[in-house]
Amino acid sequence: MSHTIHIPHTSSKEEIYISLLPQLKGLLEGETDTIANFANVSAALKMTFGFFWVGFYIVKREELVLGPFQGTIACTRIKYGKGVCGTAWKEKRTVIVEDVNQFPGHIACDAASQSEIVIPLFDHDEVIAVLDIDSKHLNHFDETDAHYLQQIVKLLEL
Ligand code: SME
Repeated sequence: MSHTIHIPHTSSKEEIYISLLPQLKGLLEGETDTIANFANVSAALKMTFGFFWVGFYIVKREELVLGPFQGTIACTRIKYGKGVCGTAWKEKRTVIVEDVNQFPGHIACDAASQSEIVIPLFDHDEVIAVLDIDSKHLNHFDETDAHYLQQIVKLLEL
């Protein structure tokens, strides 16, 4: 089955998320494979917003391991509590970083990245993965992104 994402061109960021959410729901419906769904969500977010880097890190033992993504080559393993991703995992919360150069311990996979948002995915109370999005622009992400990206990752939770 083929799927396309249709996004209105003249919309606000919020309108774009509102349009995207049910389309993602349709895209994921009927597919139970987590890797396949992570891959399509990465592609849909990259297509829709043109983010510099979008992808998932998956919890495996004591580390996050690189999963499906769209963008430049990235670090493959991140330790618990390290970097923005490891912090979101440890603190079980969405982390928004306005300027990655000011974030102590930020892991620079690509020097072009300037701001970042990381959203954890849960299985009950346990973090199973994180969605990481990087922008080439400072201060790109805000509470609107956090709100809708949290709804998007809920479509992927177990
Ligand atoms: N900057 C992230 C590492 C992953 S890359 O951005 C793809 C961090 O500090 O956790």
